[in-house]
Amino acid sequence: MISSFEWTKDMSVGDETIDRQHQQLLKEIDILLSVLIAGADETAIASAVAFLSDYIATHLAYEEEYMRQHGYPDIDFHISLHRDFIDHYELFKKEVTDGVPRKELISEIAQYVGAWWLKHILIEDKKYARYVAEHRK
Ligand SMILES: [Fe+2]
Ligand SMILES: [Fe+2]
Repeated sequence: MISSFEWTKDMSVGDETIDRQHQQLLKEIDILLSVLIAGADETAIASAVAFLSDYIATHLAYEEEYMRQHGYPDIDFHISLHRDFIDHYELFKKEVTDGVPRKELISEIAQYVGAWWLKHILIEDKKYARYVAEHRK
């Protein structure tokens, strides 16, 4: 069973732009999953995957700059988590765009992409959010 990924208030990191990006990201993951579940044609799948990767890249760059500007001390570790995610996502992306994806791919994407983001926002992004809030003058 694929759950739907939705942004909730407790995920807020105290920055409107980032919150909006997180909301949109989760929405795009849902779109990708529904396109895959519906067995949509290759073009629709490829465009959902491509859109999501652009969106992810934009968000991660913005967030990394945000942490840099606020002098977040654990930024290197945080960036390494982002890089690990991108490596993983690239593998899915390759499989999805290379041809007929495996059946299990949908639940793998739900787990490694959808669930990863929920956990990452709630645990890791919240860490810099707390730091920024504590150091705000
Ligand atoms: Fe984030
Ligand atoms: Fe992050």
